[in-house]
Amino acid sequence: MRKAPILLSIAAATIACTTYKGLPPVLQEQPNWRTLGVPATPQPLDGNPDAGLHFLIYGNYLGSGVPWGMIQKRLTKRVQDTMWQRTGPNAYAPYMMNVFEAANGVPVLNGNCFTCHAGELQGRLIPGLGNSFSDYRKSLKPLAEMTNLGVKLKYGKHSPERAAFQDFGNYFRKMAPYIRTNQPGTNPAFRLAEACMMHRNPDDLTFRPEPLYNMYAYPVATDVPPLWNVKKKHALYYNAIGRGDFSKLVFQASVLGIPDSAAARQAIQGFKDVVAWLQKLQPPPYPAGIDEPLAAQGKLLFEEHCSKCHGTYGPDGTYPNKVVALDVVKTDPLYVHYILSSGIVQWYNNSWFARSEPPSWFEPLPGYIAPPLDGIWATAPYLHNGSVPTLEALLNSSSRPTRWQRSGNSYDYDLERVGWQYIEAKKSRKKGWLYDTTLPGYGNQGHTFGDVLTDAQRRAVIEYLKTL
Ligand code: HEC
Ligand code: HEC
Repeated sequence: MRKAPILLSIAAATIACTTYKGLPPVLQEQPNWRTLGVPATPQPLDGNPDAGLHFLIYGNYLGSGVPWGMIQKRLTKRVQDTMWQRTGPNAYAPYMMNVFEAANGVPVLNGNCFTCHAGELQGRLIPGLGNSFSDYRKSLKPLAEMTNLGVKLKYGKHSPERAAFQDFGNYFRKMAPYIRTNQPGTNPAFRLAEACMMHRNPDDLTFRPEPLYNMYAYPVATDVPPLWNVKKKHALYYNAIGRGDFSKLVFQASVLGIPDSAAARQAIQGFKDVVAWLQKLQPPPYPAGIDEPLAAQGKLLFEEHCSKCHGTYGPDGTYPNKVVALDVVKTDPLYVHYILSSGIVQWYNNSWFARSEPPSWFEPLPGYIAPPLDGIWATAPYLHNGSVPTLEALLNSSSRPTRWQRSGNSYDYDLERVGWQYIEAKKSRKKGWLYDTTLPGYGNQGHTFGDVLTDAQRRAVIEYLKTL
């Protein structure tokens, strides 16, 4: 009689080995603070911004990739890169991909940071704007398996091409099952990092087939923040988890293909330059006329109702770097809960990232950071999960749509309500750009700080926000 349950529990333990079922646990205890200022840590100052952009669009920070020879013929029929006007083989790669040499000299192709960190607005690609038109609802698992098989068949198991692909091949295969989302436009970068780190030895970052911690099954994903705010921030990411040296934190995208910590050490100089580029990056200016007297009224209202969290703007501007407790901001708590119980935190703080100089580390908090609002007119949808389509809806919580549908065309941007033009939908739909706030983690509640204002006052605040 006892056998069956034991067998069952062994089976259950095997299944649960890399995946916790369901949602992460809800935080029981509230912190004894309402807002918490994040202290600054010294950042590298010797970077070169031009070298930083060059590194981002030509660099080898992904370490490995798909052999260029395998796709070259398909891509070199015409110049693809109209954004950076790159030279050499990169002229034929799309703007969000780099052709570079793997450690053994074989040219390979892989995605760059602008896959997620360049966004299209009114037909124009803006570097540093989050890409809100990515769609990870389809599983990448078949593609990962096919690419692995394709490289082996074309070049042979022991070829230099396969060696130049192998690290990326391993991580692609391991992370593909984890980055599928249930909502278009949202980005699974955190889960991508979690799934790759789980298969790296913390001390030297080499690949290990067996995972080092578990992940939740639920596909949590977020909006992509604009990169021009990094210069004001003391900590990175929505919950201010990323502390210490920024040149090592932004490195996390490299976990997808870099072979080991020796290669990581080499890439650090390049990332110092990237941090210098980030310090200089500016938001795009609002492209239409501003009603100056109205904006001046809005500025006064903003300073009264919003500045204590979001800071002040202009030449003498200040930014307080405040994390606001969940209990106070009351926006969807799932992402915060997810990260508080993720195995990546302990992994990171025991890894090469935290243990070698200069250290970076993870310090998750039970709240969200109030972001700088520079260029906020351009960064819809709003909140960490991208659940609110316009600034007008953000400032009047009763007007936020439950299910809203965008056209998918970047010209359909509303410069008056400031954000995406949308229609409300009654039911969820699998196709198209429909955002459903009833799904766990994607709720549009909270941040009700604009509700006390009258419609006329809200219009004034929005006019002011256009000028930031
Ligand atoms: C797969 C998409 C993806 C790629 C590729 C990617 N990022 Fe990100 N990045 C994100 C998302 C999503 C966030 C927000 C995560 C969070 O805050 O929890 C983010 C956050 C950041 C932040 C913090 C911004 C802030 O305000 O706190 C920086 C800096 C950054 N990324 C730089 C980079 C660099 C540099 C690269 C390339 C080496 C890169 N990212 C590659 C999706 C991506
Ligand atoms: C008590 C602190 C606090 C106050 C007061 C406050 N905010 Fe916020 N705000 C936040 C936090 C925290 C977030 C991030 C919440 C999230 O992403 O879940 C945020 C997010 C936002 C965003 C979205 C940013 C983005 O990139 O998506 C905008 C816009 C904004 N606030 C504007 C305002 C305006 C305008 C006011 C005044 C009417 C205001 N806030 C008052 C804390 C505050």
